[in-house]
Amino acid sequence: MKVRMTGRELKARYIEFFVSKNHKEIGQASLIPEHDPSVLFTTAGMHPLVPYLLGEPHPQGRRLVNVQRCLRTDDIDEVGDEAHLTFFEMLGNWSLGDYFKEEAIQLSYEFLTEHLGIEPERLWITVFAGDDDAPRDDVAANIWKSLGISDQRIHYLSKKENWWGPAGQTGPCGPDTEMFYDVGKPPCGPDCRPACPCQKFVEIWNDVFMEYNKTADGCYLPLRQKNVDTGLGVERVAAVLQERPTVFETELFAPIVSAIKELSTNPLERSIRIIADHLRASTFLLAEKLPPSNVERGYVLRRLIRRAIRHGRSIGIEEDFTAPIAAVVVAEYAEDYPHLAENRDFILAEIQKEERRFKETLQKGMREFERELQNYSPRQGQVVFPGERAFYFYETFGFPVELTEEMLRERLPGAAIDRQAFEKAYERHRQMSRAGAEQKFRGGLADATEKTTRLHTATHLLHQALRTVLSQHVEQRGSNITPDRLRFDFSHPAKMTADEIARVERIVNETITEALPIEVTITTLDEAKRQGAIALFADKYGDNVKVYAIGDFSKEVCGGPHVSNTSKLGRFKIIKEEACSAGVRRIRAVLEEMDETDQTRPETQ
Ligand code: SER
Repeated sequence: MKVRMTGRELKARYIEFFVSKNHKEIGQASLIPEHDPSVLFTTAGMHPLVPYLLGEPHPQGRRLVNVQRCLRTDDIDEVGDEAHLTFFEMLGNWSLGDYFKEEAIQLSYEFLTEHLGIEPERLWITVFAGDDDAPRDDVAANIWKSLGISDQRIHYLSKKENWWGPAGQTGPCGPDTEMFYDVGKPPCGPDCRPACPCQKFVEIWNDVFMEYNKTADGCYLPLRQKNVDTGLGVERVAAVLQERPTVFETELFAPIVSAIKELSTNPLERSIRIIADHLRASTFLLAEKLPPSNVERGYVLRRLIRRAIRHGRSIGIEEDFTAPIAAVVVAEYAEDYPHLAENRDFILAEIQKEERRFKETLQKGMREFERELQNYSPRQGQVVFPGERAFYFYETFGFPVELTEEMLRERLPGAAIDRQAFEKAYERHRQMSRAGAEQKFRGGLADATEKTTRLHTATHLLHQALRTVLSQHVEQRGSNITPDRLRFDFSHPAKMTADEIARVERIVNETITEALPIEVTITTLDEAKRQGAIALFADKYGDNVKVYAIGDFSKEVCGGPHVSNTSKLGRFKIIKEEACSAGVRRIRAVLEEMDETDQTRPETQ
């Protein structure tokens, strides 16, 4: 019979058991690894032990045990199901060159069955299947069999499932054997087995046999000493012992979940779980004095908070809620983690600041995103959302790319963001910001000869004509002008038809024959936008901007220069329309001299 116990009781029971087996309890490390720039967070209890796993003697001896707070982002998309979390508490016991497979497995089995009362027939086991780097782990399988686990409950899986480490690029690692608890629901199909995503089998404990050191060139060399590194998830085991279908129903989460539910008018289960997990994780990160930012660890924190806020909206939470929920987390965990209470003010102030910051743009960004999505339809096959647009949402509204992708997938299952293009846009932006003040006012047209000036004006006409013909979603993605031609990249999901191309050409040429004047005014960027001027790359401009208006036809923020009247342009002709990158088209166009008989032949400049 399972022994019902709280998470706290479980932690105490575990430490007690391993201490009784001659292990020494060691303290917890920070969530932010010290002296280890190769990883962002402490993802497992073994992390701070790397030097000792490599052979350095540990001051506390060869048998160690502890509880370690951990944070992992690789399962972030799974958060919202029954058992996956970003932040969690891990119980771990280690042998540094002391016992190996036999004793490790026996200790795990004894603790699970005799101290937690887990029914042996509900335990399923996986072991490493073997590959070129290491043999199949028959030794571990045989130990399990000797303990009474039947053949059919032992599965042999590949490195992807049954190998752990190294935590960074290099370091100690090895095959593992994992223990799964069968929650008792029916199998999802004939191949349902441990590690199946249906979660019939919940992974509760992992015994890693660290006997290799992975080197920078990808070799697995035998370690000087054979170690055992194990990890047992407190939340998952508590759910099993309390017979709760999910970790969110254990006492570890219940107060957090009910505080969220109280604020919600539309309590969607998945969103509530995501908020509970992400705000618990954020509270623990903030407790390490880490503020949200746009880089590395701070950015992971920002993503967690912003995703929670976005889900808060979808369950109808109107008021600021991150600080009150963080306060619940602090209250619940302060006894075990006094640093939460010590840093309470910082935690609440920072999370509140971040919520305010994000809320300023969230609604507007979501509205614009909804509008944008109307341009995409699953009928076009798998939708690839342009990375440049994802970057736009990042830059303008502070939407982390993962958040934009999640919103996209909620509407168009299977859709994806062109991540490469996003990275490129990001990089371009970085370089642009670095380029310094002298670049800022150049406005993209360094070579202002007569010919390029004309083509520049034609580019504005083309941009507006594309919006007229294809719709307002068209936005400039790039522009390149030589004395001979213009090249214009713009967002549009499909190849233009011959008719669309002809209509664009006709509109541009009509504005040329109408001899529209071009006027420039200087104003603030906000005022320009208010007037409806197209304003791209807003950060490229200074406080005051130039707005070029071509009659009533086009208005665009731009550094110039331009001709004074469209009549100076000649005949506009598109010579090529082609794909540039996912969701981005490229047009090349020229201005031809008008023939002698043409009434509107431009005067020479
Ligand atoms: N390091 C292993 C894991 O994280 C065992 O703790 O699963």
